Amino acid sequence: MPDKSLGLAHIEQEIINNNVCPELAAQATQLVFGDGNPDAKIVFIGEAPGKKEDLEGVPFVGAAGKFLDEMLASINLKREDIYITNIVKYRPPNNRDPLPEEKKAFLPYLQAQLEIIQPKIVVTLGRHSGACFLPDLQISRDHGQPKRLKLQHKSDAKDVLEVVIVPLFHPAAALYNGGLRQTLLDDFGQIPAIIKKIN
Ligand code: URA
Repeated sequence: MPDKSLGLAHIEQEIINNNVCPELAAQATQLVFGDGNPDAKIVFIGEAPGKKEDLEGVPFVGAAGKFLDEMLASINLKREDIYITNIVKYRPPNNRDPLPEEKKAFLPYLQAQLEIIQPKIVVTLGRHSGACFLPDLQISRDHGQPKRLKLQHKSDAKDVLEVVIVPLFHPAAALYNGGLRQTLLDDFGQIPAIIKKIN
């Protein structure tokens, strides 16, 4: 099997070489590419790095990340068991929502990341990352409901990647909202059954 870490490092370098979203890059401390196990069968995708992520170069290390770690622990998963990244890989100024053109610019790199990792399950965190895969997503209606999807990175690619997408609320949205927090915990609780079904 080719070394997935090398493949991922290549994509990371491509983002820099291709000067993706130069305005975002200029005001960010660094690129926040991804973290965790490149051999993971489950990938989590957030929106964009926040302040702490921008400083440390690692996704989900701030308050939302701590809550995510707790939820992972509640289903016996650790960071080393998963891979985690964001759609947009530079921190937007003042943590504003990523713009449509920024999501569009980074999507091919996200798809290339997934092609290398070859996960079985992709958990999207928040409506921005969910809608990248499920354009009709209504997060309040569709959260926690797994959907099978075939991902094709390049239009001429022979191989498609078949994944199960699990759209969840974003942990930051749930941090200070007790109801949403419980909903997210309940949705997380479904993940082991989804993993079991796929295996
Ligand atoms: N929120 C995100 O969507 N991603 C991070 O990396 C941190 C917070």
